[in-house]
Amino acid sequence: MGTPTPRAGFDAADTWVCACRHIRRQAFIETVKQQQLTTIDAVRQVTAINTSCGICYETVQSLLDEINGS
Ligand code: FES
Repeated sequence: MGTPTPRAGFDAADTWVCACRHIRRQAFIETVKQQQLTTIDAVRQVTAINTSCGICYETVQSLLDEINGS
């Protein structure tokens, strides 16, 4: 057995931000930038992120702050 080979086109850095809503990091970043979203309520309304179990709150808020330079 060796090291698993990533699938073609798979980006290991493109992790889940919200598993419940199937939203990955790159898609989230692109949506936030394109739609100039600055609050967690705004991203919830547009993407439905963080509207199920809620466990992704810190990740979503942290990434949102990072994108918006807060
Ligand atoms: S992981 Fe985001 S709401 Fe459950």
